[in-house]
Amino acid sequence: MTTILAIESSCDETSAAVISNGKIRSNSVATQVIHEKYGGVVPELASRAHQQHIVPIVEKALQEAKVSKKDLNAIAFTRGPGLLGALLVGSSFAKALALGLKIPLIEVHHMHAHVLAHFIEEPTPSFPFLCLTVSGGHTQIVLVHDALSMEIIGETQDDAVGEAFDKTAKLLNLPYPGGPLIDKYAQQGNPLAFTFPLSEMPGLNFSFSGIKTAILYFLQDKTRKNPQFVEENLADVCASVQYTLIKMLLLKLRKAAKKTGISQIAIAGGVSANSGLRKTLLEMGEKEQWKVYIPRFEYCTDNAAMIAIAAHFKYEKGDFCKQTVSPLPRMVF
Ligand code: KG4
Ligand code: ZN
Repeated sequence: MTTILAIESSCDETSAAVISNGKIRSNSVATQVIHEKYGGVVPELASRAHQQHIVPIVEKALQEAKVSKKDLNAIAFTRGPGLLGALLVGSSFAKALALGLKIPLIEVHHMHAHVLAHFIEEPTPSFPFLCLTVSGGHTQIVLVHDALSMEIIGETQDDAVGEAFDKTAKLLNLPYPGGPLIDKYAQQGNPLAFTFPLSEMPGLNFSFSGIKTAILYFLQDKTRKNPQFVEENLADVCASVQYTLIKMLLLKLRKAAKKTGISQIAIAGGVSANSGLRKTLLEMGEKEQWKVYIPRFEYCTDNAAMIAIAAHFKYEKGDFCKQTVSPLPRMVF
């Protein structure tokens, strides 16, 4: 039996998971709440919180999996992309543990891991498939040839869609991270109440900076006329913004499916937890005769189980890294 301990610390979630022969045995996540009052992730505070959480969260993951350190065959960690100080905590811990236990070390690309989260449990997509990866830092359409070979065929040229959600929430005076709250209020609102412009980005690329500015001007104009506008129309504004963002994502995804002729379609990353996106994708999938794959909520946002499954594929190929490896905040895909 091959057992791997995986660690994720790229942003504001400290997570550890244990995998044996490709089956997840535990996945512990410590979410850092400290950033809420600052309206966004504060890198220095994230590093400090990772430092506090990493030992207990690893112990928890090992206990839940009923595994002791001597049973481990490899240690995996997120090398990048992410916040340098945050990545340093996970990578240093992983390196020290692997050195102490005299076992191999496996580096994982955070965005590859979001895609490979689809192999944590059934049903799993078959290759090749398309994955729309949508998070706080990325918006990508990925053509997945196999577990260790994938390429970006479309991506955002400016903001990530998660940022568009979070920045809209900030304009609406909602706490950070606002994406889940927009989702919640949108469920009670009318998506056609207000219209926002779709981006004109050519090909399979995205742009979300224009809509962000449009929302800002829209809200400034409305609140000048009625200072209570946001309170009185919160659900409708959330529903309309969410509707527009989802439309922008799915128009490009449909274009990618047509261009590649691939009809196995997956979504991944934090924003794939959005209930409107999940529902609309399923509806579009039925119309377009796609086979749609949507991970369970806990495997959409940052977690170490996805790092563990990525490490499992790398272990099988003997793809290990050296002790001299260092984190890459802007790790290339
Ligand atoms: O993948 P993730 O956990 O971290 C990054 O690697 O960025 O994604 C976090 C992003 C945040 O922007 C958050 O607001 C967004 O995912 N998010 C959502 C929802 N849940 C998380 N956005 C919209 N609706 C949701 N339900
Ligand atoms: Zn992520």
